[in-house]
Amino acid sequence: MVLKRADEHEAPEDSSMKDGIFRQYNTKAPSETQVIPLFSLKGKTAIVSGSGAGIGLAVVQGFAEAGANVAIWYHGNKKALDRAAEIEQKYGVKCRAYQTDVTDYDNVKEVIYEIAREFNGRLDIFVANAGIPWTQGRMIDGELSHYHKVVATDLDSVFYCAKVAGEIWRHQYETGLSMTGETLQNYRYGSFIATSSMSGHIANIPQLQSAYNAAKAGVRHLCQSLAVEWVKFARANSISPGYIATEISNFIPPETKAIWRGKIPMGREGEAHELKGAYLYLASDASSYTTGTDIVVDGGYTAV
Ligand SMILES: NC(=O)c1ccc[n+]([C@@H]2O[C@H](COP(=O)([O-])OP(=O)(O)OC[C@H]3O[C@@H](n4cnc5c(N)ncnc54)[C@H](OP(=O)(O)O)[C@@H]3O)[C@@H](O)[C@H]2O)c1
Repeated sequence: MVLKRADEHEAPEDSSMKDGIFRQYNTKAPSETQVIPLFSLKGKTAIVSGSGAGIGLAVVQGFAEAGANVAIWYHGNKKALDRAAEIEQKYGVKCRAYQTDVTDYDNVKEVIYEIAREFNGRLDIFVANAGIPWTQGRMIDGELSHYHKVVATDLDSVFYCAKVAGEIWRHQYETGLSMTGETLQNYRYGSFIATSSMSGHIANIPQLQSAYNAAKAGVRHLCQSLAVEWVKFARANSISPGYIATEISNFIPPETKAIWRGKIPMGREGEAHELKGAYLYLASDASSYTTGTDIVVDGGYTAV
C-alpha cells in the first residue's frame, strides 16, 4: 500500500472563518454522552515524545490503559524498547518505541510517517513532552550554546511536532481517509497536547532558569494559538506540571528540593502517575469542547 503524505496535497483554504469571523457550527459535539465511554481511546493511535521514562511513560501507560495504540519516542534511553514490550503485553494494545531527535525537523517528520505506516495509518493524539532543563544558573553567566539547546529541545521541537501532526489531521479531516487511504472509523478530531510547566507561569527560586521558563511560556502560548488556527480539524492544549519526581531534576541538590517542598501547599513533589488523568482528559472526547487551555497540576504551587 502506498502511503500518501499529507503535505503532498494542495493546502486547502482556511474555512473556519469568513471576513474575520468564525463560521457557526465549525465543529460537532460527540454523539456519546456517557462519561466513561467519552474517556475511552480504544482503537486510537497516539504518539508521546520523551516517553521512555518519567511523565511521558506515565502518559503512555494511561493511554494504553484507555485502549490506545501508542508509539513511545525516546532519544538516548534504550530501556524504552523494554517498556514498549511490557505495555503491549500488559494492556493488549500495540506499543512500539522509536528513537527520535525532536530538535531535528526532518527526523520528526520521518518518524511520524513511519509510525503512520506501521500502525493503522492514522494519528489521533500527539503529546509533545520531550524536554531538558536549564542547568547553568543565572542567564548572564550561562552559555549561549546551552540557551540554544534548551530552546531547541523545549520549544522548537513542539513547533516541529505540531507542524507534522497538524498536516496529518487536516488531511484526515478533509478526506475522511487514513494516511494509507482507508476510510477512518471512529475518528473525530486530532488532539495535540504539549507539556509546558508551571515555570511558564512563574519564575522559580532558588534555582534560576530563565531560558527554560521562557521556552515553557512559549509552549503554552503556541498551543493556545494552534487551537485557533486548527479549530476545524484538531484541538490543542497544554499541561503545566509543578515539581514532579523524575530524572529531569536529578541535578538539583536535596537541600534545594527541601526548599521547593516548603513552597508547595501539598508539601511534596507530584508523582508522574498523578498526571495521567489530565493527559487522558485532553486526549479523549471527554474534553471535546476544550481547546486552547492549559491545565496546571502543581500541588497548589501557583495558587500561593
Ligand atoms: N519533572 C518535573 O518537575 C517537570 C515539571 C514541569 C514540566 N516538566 C516537563 O515534562 C517533560 C518530561 O520531563 P520528565 O520530568 O518526565 O523528565 P525526563 O524523564 O528527563 O524526560 C525528558 C524526556 O525528554 C527526552 N528528550 C530530551 N532531549 C531529547 C531530544 N533531543 N530528542 C528526543 N527526546 C529528547 C528524553 O529522552 P531520553 O531519556 O530517551 O534521552 C526524556 O525522555 C519535559 O518537557 C519537562 O520539561 C517536568
